[in-house]
Amino acid sequence: MVRIAPSLLAADFWALGQAIQTVESAGVDLLHVDIMDSHFVPNLSMGPGIVKDLRKRTKAELDVHLMVTQPEQLVGPFADAGADWLSFHIEATYHPHRLCDQIRKLGCKAGITLNPGTPISAISAVVDEVDFILIMSVNPGFGGQSFIPATYDRLNQLRSMLAGKLNPPLIEVDGGVGTSNIGKLAAHGMQIAVAGSSVFAAPDPAQAVRDLQSIANEGVHA
Ligand code: DX5
Ligand code: ZN
Repeated sequence: MVRIAPSLLAADFWALGQAIQTVESAGVDLLHVDIMDSHFVPNLSMGPGIVKDLRKRTKAELDVHLMVTQPEQLVGPFADAGADWLSFHIEATYHPHRLCDQIRKLGCKAGITLNPGTPISAISAVVDEVDFILIMSVNPGFGGQSFIPATYDRLNQLRSMLAGKLNPPLIEVDGGVGTSNIGKLAAHGMQIAVAGSSVFAAPDPAQAVRDLQSIANEGVHA
């Protein structure tokens, strides 16, 4: 079954707690938290203070996506704040094995992320060190962008790379995911779907989660 991870970036920050309770009522137990530094991506978003406040109030796991340069300096503060899953971009570090090790020692699941223009082969040497792989299906920096269809082929390449592994990392997809593509993504091996505007810009976010969930489940069995 595909897990839906709503991206809080698309929520109304005035009523963030209420937005989280709404999606939790639809079964959500993983929340995607986008961290942007205006260097790696042209935008700024949240810091560890927000993660710390979320951690006190929600039982959901917190999936922190670091879109930052020098992720080595931020994994500690975000782990201390209560992140459960921590991903960094392969384009942002020279030492991915060391960073995965650092994240796991902090007690978090380690994830590696690739921009849409980065070859899947860029992570081949490090896939055995990670708990999950986050495939970007938009260029990171903003919510509400259009899904890049080349993602399907990239998922095929990733699955070939992982074929035969006893304990393969989970596959997560982020960017432009909605009802029109979630089924096909699930059929291509996506196990975690990040969904920002397709959840929080919908008139009824709880219903949007349920719709995404049921279409994704059909896709898995397609
Ligand atoms: C993009 C972020 C995404 C974004 C997804 O830079 O990493 O997580 O919030 O938003 P939607 O689902 O609206 O594309
Ligand atoms: Zn993200």
